Amino acid sequence: ININVIDENGEERSAEWHEDQTLLEALLANQFPVLATCGGNASCATCHAYIDPEHFASLGERTEAEEDLLDMVDDISNEYSRLSCQTEFTEGMDGATVTLKPGM
Ligand code: FES
Repeated sequence: ININVIDENGEERSAEWHEDQTLLEALLANQFPVLATCGGNASCATCHAYIDPEHFASLGERTEAEEDLLDMVDDISNEYSRLSCQTEFTEGMDGATVTLKPGM
């Protein structure tokens, strides 16, 4: 599927997301500079991204660890926040816009 990604400079470009990738893996494969300090273990929040409201519901539930971590960064997280490392592929995200968290 294709998603639109708005990077930390506010620039938007299209990115491919394949079925066997988490959102984080897709972002990295498309050369977005996501730090992912913890290596995808839901413990750093540097992979935080916002999903457009229209597509957010097509994703599965957040994991418990993800909820906890997003709570810890509640100054910048919102109801459409996801940790991209915990976000599994779904066809329903085709055409979605994903905004990387500012200041990465
Ligand atoms: Fe660390 Fe996702 S990469 S929380």
